[in-house]
Amino acid sequence: MFEPILNESIIKRGREKKKVAIRVHDLRAYTKDRHRKVDDRPFGGGPGMVMTPQPFFDAIKKIKGDRKAKVLLMSPSGKRLTQKLARDLAKQKNLILLCGHYEGVDERVRQKCVDESISIGDYVLTGGEIPAMVLIDCLTRLVPGVLGKEASLEDESFEDGLLEYPHYTRPANFRGTKVPDVLLSGHHLAISKWRKEQARRVTRRNRPDLIK
Ligand SMILES: C[S@@+](CC[C@H](N)C(=O)[O-])C[C@H]1O[C@@H](n2cnc3c(N)ncnc32)[C@H](O)[C@@H]1O
Repeated sequence: MFEPILNESIIKRGREKKKVAIRVHDLRAYTKDRHRKVDDRPFGGGPGMVMTPQPFFDAIKKIKGDRKAKVLLMSPSGKRLTQKLARDLAKQKNLILLCGHYEGVDERVRQKCVDESISIGDYVLTGGEIPAMVLIDCLTRLVPGVLGKEASLEDESFEDGLLEYPHYTRPANFRGTKVPDVLLSGHHLAISKWRKEQARRVTRRNRPDLIK
């Protein structure tokens, strides 16, 4: 699942420039089970399977080695990923992301091995791989030197607590819908003021909670 995402666009560029190094590990390689099983039935009953602790404990120990690394568990019950949290995480030198499956991961993994559980939003996905890729993409963009122009980060949504203003490109008149005059005026101050107003308008409309 990871190959195409890690070898495209900004993540690919970050890896090529050696600004980030990303490795994918197969949890099954660490299981002591004869059948390479990494899940079992839940104590207390109920539907679905739970991922067993042993492969996680051993994989984390091996991958960490002598390095200091923050261990993150992808989980819908985790702390919600925001741009602010991403900025904090992007400062870490080494991160290990754990992907759950089925009903989730044995709680002892979280208790003993995990520094922080991270949710990418209030909905449930099938496995932790897509959430891990979301986090990798989000963090890679924040590593200095990955994006071409550092400035392209500054105006992005959430950077100043607001959503971003609308963008326009050529043509100035597309099938009768025109680009706002101010953007064609060359008047930098007026453009900047318009963009701020628009950012507030979009945020009020789509995310009133951010305005509060
Ligand atoms: C089907 S989900 C488990 C859902 C769990 N039973 C619950 O209700 O919270 C399987 C795995 O997908 C990942 N996952 C699903 N939704 C996620 C989200 N919103 N954020 C982060 N990880 C998520 C987690 O790694 C989780 O262990």
